[in-house]
Amino acid sequence: MPRPAAPTSDLVSRPKGLLDQDHRELEHHLEVAALLLELLPADGRVSASHRGALEAALAYFRREAIWHTRDEELSLFPRLRRARNRRVAAALAQLATLTHEHEAVIKLHEAFEQAAAAGLKAARYSPRQRRTLQRLLRDLRAIYRRHMEIEDRQIFPLAAAVLGPAQMRSIDRDIAQRRR
Ligand SMILES: [Fe+2]
Ligand SMILES: [Fe+2]
Repeated sequence: MPRPAAPTSDLVSRPKGLLDQDHRELEHHLEVAALLLELLPADGRVSASHRGALEAALAYFRREAIWHTRDEELSLFPRLRRARNRRVAAALAQLATLTHEHEAVIKLHEAFEQAAAAGLKAARYSPRQRRTLQRLLRDLRAIYRRHMEIEDRQIFPLAAAVLGPAQMRSIDRDIAQRRR
């Protein structure tokens, strides 16, 4: 999904805004995937429209969702860790937890993709496959809900408060580079 251009006067808050926006898009795709599984017919047959929508959600999880974890792990968190600031020092344990949770969601995304691909190939999901996908999605949504709340409410505002404009521009460039 293309990102809307940010106004140039918003450079300092732009990386935070982009990462916030990623969260909302991710929530949207998780919700769509859950709805698609719920709306599968009783015989589990995958219609053309179901297939298209599910493939779009899978593509988002495979690409944008992973880029987002890289944006945080490789661009945002290291700059925050290097900031000499008392508030950052107090958030270091949270950064470690968030990084650990990224590993957990990547594994869940992989498992979800594998299970979803099997049904797409057969154009049908057995009741067991459907339950497996729903369980994986529940686990993903549970981790993400808590995870994004911490980032939205604490980590992104902290970054906006303690990182300077040059660092914010540098994060912004990393984010753009990753999507080229
Ligand atoms: Fe994260
Ligand atoms: Fe995030």
